Parts: sequence; C-alpha cells; structure tokens
Amino acid sequence: MARRRRIYEGKAKVLFEGPEPGTLVQYFKDDATAFNNQKHGVITGKGVLNNRISEFLMQRLVEIGIPTHFVRRLNMREQLVREVEIIPVEVVIRNVAAGSLVKRFGVPEGQLLPRAIVEYYYKSDSLGDPMISEEHITAFGWATTQEIDDILALSLRVNDFLTGLFVGIGLRLVDFKLEFGRLYNEDEMRIVLADELSPDNMRLWDAKTNEKMDKDRFRQDLGGVKEAYQEVARRLGILPEG
Ligand code: C5P
Repeated sequence: MARRRRIYEGKAKVLFEGPEPGTLVQYFKDDATAFNNQKHGVITGKGVLNNRISEFLMQRLVEIGIPTHFVRRLNMREQLVREVEIIPVEVVIRNVAAGSLVKRFGVPEGQLLPRAIVEYYYKSDSLGDPMISEEHITAFGWATTQEIDDILALSLRVNDFLTGLFVGIGLRLVDFKLEFGRLYNEDEMRIVLADELSPDNMRLWDAKTNEKMDKDRFRQDLGGVKEAYQEVARRLGILPEG
C-alpha cells in the first residue's frame, strides 16, 4: 500500500488522506469485532466483499436521490469518499425483532414489528455506544433538530428502498445501522449518508429459511461467515473480481 497519511483507524476500516482536498480513501479490513470490542476475529476476504457490497448499495441509493459520501471504488479494498464531519450518532432502523431489541425488551426474535423502529446511539467506544434520544442529541449539541429531521427522513427512505431491494433477492432486511455526516461545499452544508452498508452493519435473513447471512454468524459462532457474505454478493449480482 502506498504511504499515505492515516486519518482514522476503526475496527473494520481505515481512512487515509485522499488524492484531492476534501476526499478520503476508505480501506476495508478483514478484521471483525463484536460486543464492544470484546470479541475479535479475522475473516479473510471480508473487506473485499464489503467494499463491493457497500459500493453497490451506495450507488443504488444515489440513483434514488439519497446523498452519500461515496464517490467511486478504487480497487479491491478501497473506495474514494468525500470527507465529511461525522455526526457522532448511530442510527439503527429495525423491521424485525433481533439483537439488542430482543435482549432489552424480551420480544421474541423474528417478531415482525408493526412499523419500523428507529433508535439512536451515541458513538463512543469508551461508553459502549449508549442508546440516546433526540433530547440528548440536541441538548449535547451532536446535531440540531433540523439535522435530526433530515437524518430520520433519509433513514426511512433508505429502509424502504433497501427492504424492497433485498426482498427481490430473497433476503429479509431485519435491521441495520447508518451513520451520517455534514458535507461542506463553499458556504453550503448538507447531511449525507456516510460509512458503509454491508452485512457487518445489517441483519439479513434468508426469506425462506431465516438463515442468518450477516455478522451474527461471527457474533454467534455459527461459522460460514465469509460464505454468507459471498452469497449476499452473489444474489446482488456482484462478486469481486479475482
Ligand atoms: O446489536 P443491535 O441489535 O442493536 O444492532 C442493530 C443493527 O445495527 C445490527 O444490524 C447491527 O449489525 C448494527 N450495528 C452496527 N454497529 C453498532 C451497533 C449495531 O452496525 N455499533
């Protein structure tokens, strides 16, 4: 890898300085973590698959008018993105009960929710990403009321679109996490979708068998993690070259 300035290193990705001002290179690692970093693993080839899956989904969202940080994929593990100011709030959208919703409220896993539930979490590794409300977001100045309105509207549009897209390839979009950033352009600012969209950040179940096709295979030691990600890519009609 060429020597570039490392801007930020996360659990599954690294951000490098981009070729032009206002751009970054997002590098997808094979590392996997779960339970607030307590569980670590390496899934060989995961980064390549997530780079490709995220590219595909971001492109489809751009086509329906969702603003994103995505510019283009550069190679097997890297994509060019616009530099944004990340809003420190993780947005989780749920269609079916799973994961922490099941743990927190005791609803049975797999229960269809009467409508999409949107939750906010404060992005903080040291605090373990606590769940927050709009009140916390505005009181602590993480985003304005207008920005939260924009984020919510975009999140619901993304959910509607991706739910339909996955239904078409026999997958159920159970839940997923989104991150947003502020993109500054001269004296304008707009909220755009950032980060990535991959089976690391979403639960996808096979529509017929309910088989888990996402990072829960790693979290729950179900095996076949890479094969599940490959199957998602295959159904999307995109398998990485090479
Ligand atoms: O664990 P929980 O049920 O709250 O996760 C909801 C969804 O958000 C899952 O699809 C999970 O993969 C995603 N998520 C994430 N990053 C986090 C927390 C959750 O991508 N830090």
